[in-house]
Amino acid sequence: MQCGDLVEIDYPGWNAKDSLTSAAELKRRWRERKTSSLAADQSGVWRFRDLLPPFDDLNSIVTLEEGNTPIYELHRSERMLGIETILAKHQGMNPTGSFKDTGMTVAASFARAAGYRWVACASTGNTSASMAAYAARGRMRALVLIPEGKISWGKLSQALDYGALTCQLRSDFDGCTRVLNQVVRSTPVYLLNSVNPYRIEGQKTAALELVEQLNWEVPDHIIVPGGNLGNSSAFGKALLEMHHLGLIGRLPKISIIQAEGANPLVRLTRSKTKDLVPLQAETMASAIRIGNPASWKKALRVLEATQGRADEVSELEIAEAKAEIGLEGIGCEPASAVTLAGLKKLAQQGFVKRGDMVVLVLTGHLLKDPEFTLKFHRHELFAGTRNESQAGTVAAYERTPVVLEPSADAVLDVLQRAEQR
Ligand code: F0G
Repeated sequence: MQCGDLVEIDYPGWNAKDSLTSAAELKRRWRERKTSSLAADQSGVWRFRDLLPPFDDLNSIVTLEEGNTPIYELHRSERMLGIETILAKHQGMNPTGSFKDTGMTVAASFARAAGYRWVACASTGNTSASMAAYAARGRMRALVLIPEGKISWGKLSQALDYGALTCQLRSDFDGCTRVLNQVVRSTPVYLLNSVNPYRIEGQKTAALELVEQLNWEVPDHIIVPGGNLGNSSAFGKALLEMHHLGLIGRLPKISIIQAEGANPLVRLTRSKTKDLVPLQAETMASAIRIGNPASWKKALRVLEATQGRADEVSELEIAEAKAEIGLEGIGCEPASAVTLAGLKKLAQQGFVKRGDMVVLVLTGHLLKDPEFTLKFHRHELFAGTRNESQAGTVAAYERTPVVLEPSADAVLDVLQRAEQR
């Protein structure tokens, strides 16, 4: 335990073929639990508990009925990109509006069972919102470290409302992580960042649920955003385990997309060096403004094992893709939109082909970052930035609200002009 690297949960029992429940039996059980009224069965995470660390008392899990998130087909993007099937697995439809809830229910349950009074995390906003909620449900106290002025108001307001002790540090996410690591060494608070292996185990279930929803048909590509790289690690671990257990017959390619200004993994895959070089991260997709991701080794193994790619997208590409996902009637937060922007690149490279089935993992809800959306539609997002001169390329997606006198004629006039456009 002194190697300094992250812990990963392994299930040695799964190698003994005779002690193993068959894939068909697992599938049957998971289907059957959907009709049960037990809280653990209503959770889209604990329903898959056969592939999670054993938890003794299922009546005392900390749950908000997470998981069970929808898959939406993106017809407009299919037409635009000429790709047969593009699906969005919307993890933003979790109880606190992001994918973090699937890991948090497991980690918070173990924290409470171990008797911890305090749980803590550093966060770009979603982890803190989720942790604060699950701590409150589990009657634990929450300590949140967030970079001051660099997370969306929506996420900050969640942490406050769920009762967390919230410290805004004059630093970035990486600085918050450094401070938190010192804090947990000096006092008995339980660390709930994605370095916590129980979080990764819970987040695995998004991949299980996805493939179950597809009737165990495996997509050709799964595309995830990359920040601290816990989510990509979890998706990869789940799919490798499913493959090992015979639940699926082949692996999808998992690709990881980062913002250009927060791209340490992309740089690593393009360089000849073996170690990740941390950088000073900068992107308007604040959820993934991370320069020193904790789980980079795990993510790299996932890329290798599934033959996926790491790629990067620009701020303009993120804004455009986010607007496009909005126009599907779905919406997501900026960090999630890197998946569609990344898909365009991967398709251009010929890595994703016309006949492929692609799943984009949308990690956060549109309402997580309304400021970004409003600024975009008011043509303010790129004002004063180095992208200002190119912002015209996304102007076609802007829907600036109009202020009118309260008269039917004024509204009818606007309607007529919109009809002609
Ligand atoms: N998308 C969203 C909406 C996120 O909040 C995050 C991470 C990611 C993608 C990247 O996932 O870190 O597992 O690679 N947010 C963290 C937080 C870091 O503190 O909320 P990852």
